[in-house]
Amino acid sequence: MEVVIVPDAGAAGDLVAEAMARLLRRKPDALLGVATGSTPLPVYRALAAKAAAGEVDVSRARICQLDEYVGLPAGHPESYRSVVLREVVEPLGLDETCFMGPDGSAEDIPAACERYERELAEAGGVDLQLLGIGTDGHIGFNEPCSSLASRTRIKTLTRQTRADNARFFGGDIDQVPRHVITQGIGTIMEARHLVLLATGEGKAEAVAQTVEGPLSAMVPASALQMHPNATVVVDEAAASGLKLAEYFRSTYESKPHWQTI
Ligand code: PGA
Repeated sequence: MEVVIVPDAGAAGDLVAEAMARLLRRKPDALLGVATGSTPLPVYRALAAKAAAGEVDVSRARICQLDEYVGLPAGHPESYRSVVLREVVEPLGLDETCFMGPDGSAEDIPAACERYERELAEAGGVDLQLLGIGTDGHIGFNEPCSSLASRTRIKTLTRQTRADNARFFGGDIDQVPRHVITQGIGTIMEARHLVLLATGEGKAEAVAQTVEGPLSAMVPASALQMHPNATVVVDEAAASGLKLAEYFRSTYESKPHWQTI
């Protein structure tokens, strides 16, 4: 696992945006898996700035979603479809046709999950999947004890995750949906490059368990230990629980040949 410690959230955003830009220069129609939440926003801003400055052509980029709430009415501003359109697709000057995600308002949720798996496969798989991490160690919405082999399916959110996300729903936990569709951990692991981004002290414990703890379904993000091309980008605060922080710094500064970001 490649662990990169940067000074702050802005530097993390720049680093990951540059990795996406490099990928798009090499493969203009790359499929970028995006994450919602607050952490990745600096990445999307930095990538949009690069596109506006003519540093990268994003016009053929394809975007896919990691997860979605179940049961929010179509067009709800906090549905992840709305969030990705607002924060990623529109700032990049793209339109909805470049974008795919699971249908959280489908009548038949298991069929919608299967359909999304099929769409991802038919699109040739995800080239770079950006991931946030929950304070409970979730990736996507794979809560603790999710099968490490899971596929896209419906999950129930933990109270902790609903409390963490209440800020997007006027601070009212009762407005946060209880159910979600999420790519499974097995699905996420098929992306060619995984980039997990974490900033702030609130993520330090989850990051330490992900990187240095045992592989465990109790910490779903620890599955990244089994991925051949996974990068963890953290700011100083999120790195504060890492025993090997000095080692990771020296490794990265020595620019090893396998460095991907
Ligand atoms: P956050 O969410 O970036 O808003 O902290 C991360 C997550 O829940 O995956």
